[in-house]
Amino acid sequence: MIQAPEYIKTIKPYVPGKPIAELERELGISGSIKLASNENPLGPSPLAVRAMRRGLQGVNRYPDGSCYYLKNALAQKLNVSDEEILLGNGSNELIDIAVRTFLMPGDEAIMAHPSFVVYSMIVQAAGGRNIVVPLKEWRHDLQAMASEITDRTKIIFIANPNNPTGTINTKDEMDAFMEKVPDGVLVIVDEAYYEYVSSPYYADSMKYFRQGRDILILRTFSKIYGLAGLRVGYGISKGAIVTEMNKIRQPFNVNSAAQEAAIAALQDEGHLKRTKRLNEQGKKYLYRELSALNISYVPTEANFIYISFKEEEAMGLYEKLLKYGVIVRPMGRHELRVTIGLSEENKRFIETLKQIVGSKAVGSKQ
Ligand SMILES: Cc1ncc(COP(=O)(O)O)c(C=O)c1O
Repeated sequence: MIQAPEYIKTIKPYVPGKPIAELERELGISGSIKLASNENPLGPSPLAVRAMRRGLQGVNRYPDGSCYYLKNALAQKLNVSDEEILLGNGSNELIDIAVRTFLMPGDEAIMAHPSFVVYSMIVQAAGGRNIVVPLKEWRHDLQAMASEITDRTKIIFIANPNNPTGTINTKDEMDAFMEKVPDGVLVIVDEAYYEYVSSPYYADSMKYFRQGRDILILRTFSKIYGLAGLRVGYGISKGAIVTEMNKIRQPFNVNSAAQEAAIAALQDEGHLKRTKRLNEQGKKYLYRELSALNISYVPTEANFIYISFKEEEAMGLYEKLLKYGVIVRPMGRHELRVTIGLSEENKRFIETLKQIVGSKAVGSKQ
């Protein structure tokens, strides 16, 4: 039988958040909630849904492979030129395209751990070497990451905010880091949760783009815009980088309904504000309740919270929560990542957790 190369065989497949329908099918239950994939609990913008419906009339045609109108809308919003934007089938696809464009077998990519697991999978699939640097106090240790740069380094991934910890790197940290990155190394700043950040210290990655550095900024319509099921993400980078990446992009990688919806979603500022407000309220509630239970958590700048238990095993807790119809994401040995949901969902998560672990002290506040 044909054999995949060793570097493919040893990839650990991505485990997505469990879909509600799957859980309910397996357990024969109903009324479950999913706080596992950092989706927008308010749903998509109604403007996006309307635009998508209109667009469905034309699905006998291929989509606009250049995403002309969406690209144009983004370019205007971001004050960049159309040539500096690249659309992807989710930002996931853009990670894949970037790696396949710039990394050759044997080249190195530097990334943090724990961070978004897709980076290392894609690098491995391309025959690259993952250089993994542990987080420091739950944040990217940019100094340590810079010190790992060698002649073989092609890409450095920085998730800002980081998934699963929800932490950010600051302007000062990023300034110092970018000074150490030599020309010819692509820094991918993954800002999937950019719109949720409220810290005044958050690094402005567009500044490095404007300086003409080798940087690719990734953002997505899957999170605050509530369009995860449609798969649209975008990258911002200098024209020369976008041109190379475009060469290996599938010609029709963003479908027409997704393009219509994304253009409309960009105009719905109200939906964004409501989502952010709901997230802030949910965050405060969860902080308060977790503190009352003496469960430690990492303060977040995103729409999820990384919580850590002293003794309980994450996998066991995850499975118990599933039985009550509450889907979260197990992470490390003692950690769960919980998406901030609607207020009733957050409440249900806390009440279920109380039932499982009791109201005894189970962790320690960071
Ligand atoms: C840090 C980060 N980057 C990228 C993605 C991928 O998002 P999408 O492909 O839906 O745009 C996610 C999704 O969870 C994420 O958490």
